[in-house]
Amino acid sequence: MKSNKVFIATSLDGFIADSDGGIGWLDTFPEINTVNTGYKTFVASIDALVMGRHTYETVLGFDVPWPYAKPVFVLSNTLKEIPGELEGKVFLQNGPLIEVLKRIHAQGHHQLYIDGGSLIQSFLKEDLIDEMVITTIPVLLGQGIPLFGAVSEHLKFRCAETTLFFETVVQNRYVRQKNV
Ligand SMILES: NC(=O)c1ccc[n+]([C@@H]2O[C@H](COP(=O)([O-])OP(=O)(O)OC[C@H]3O[C@@H](n4cnc5c(N)ncnc54)[C@H](OP(=O)(O)O)[C@@H]3O)[C@@H](O)[C@H]2O)c1
Repeated sequence: MKSNKVFIATSLDGFIADSDGGIGWLDTFPEINTVNTGYKTFVASIDALVMGRHTYETVLGFDVPWPYAKPVFVLSNTLKEIPGELEGKVFLQNGPLIEVLKRIHAQGHHQLYIDGGSLIQSFLKEDLIDEMVITTIPVLLGQGIPLFGAVSEHLKFRCAETTLFFETVVQNRYVRQKNV
């Protein structure tokens, strides 16, 4: 069974990063880092990640060992190579999303974690997202990089699960509802 899933945190006003691409505001309520928000279970459920180039570069900038044990497919029309130490772990991809997905599926990866604002928007525009776990940090940024953008048609989702942490942070799991 093929599935494209999102697991992401947003501000109350729907941004995934501030205007400079910063994500320091994710720690507005540091107590959230002390509880299990399901990230490990989510990552255990996927076969590979599909990541926008900006998100890939943000992760590289963390100056920590490469954090993903599963293959990461980075979408980019500009990157031509990856650092030697990431060979066999990171794979560059470009072209129409449907073609990219076909190539990834052909390698046996069917459960995919889609990450990066612009990339998630591109997937949504083609109605290619099946599930979204959205953790909302109740802070208003006013501006920044939005999670959502234009879509080609209205896309309905069912809220399959809601969890409230510390009476501040809400996590919702949305499942795409087609033909209803
Ligand atoms: N809050 C969170 O949980 C969370 C999670 C992930 C990321 N972030 C933050 O979000 C920011 C990155 O998001 P972003 O929206 O700027 O960029 P992004 O989606 O990570 O990357 C966009 C880039 O991906 C490449 N790309 C190739 N094909 C594409 C396609 N079909 N659709 C879209 N992009 C395609 C392009 O790179 P080329 O220009 O090379 O062609 C494009 O410029 C970072 O600041 C990161 O820290 C936050």
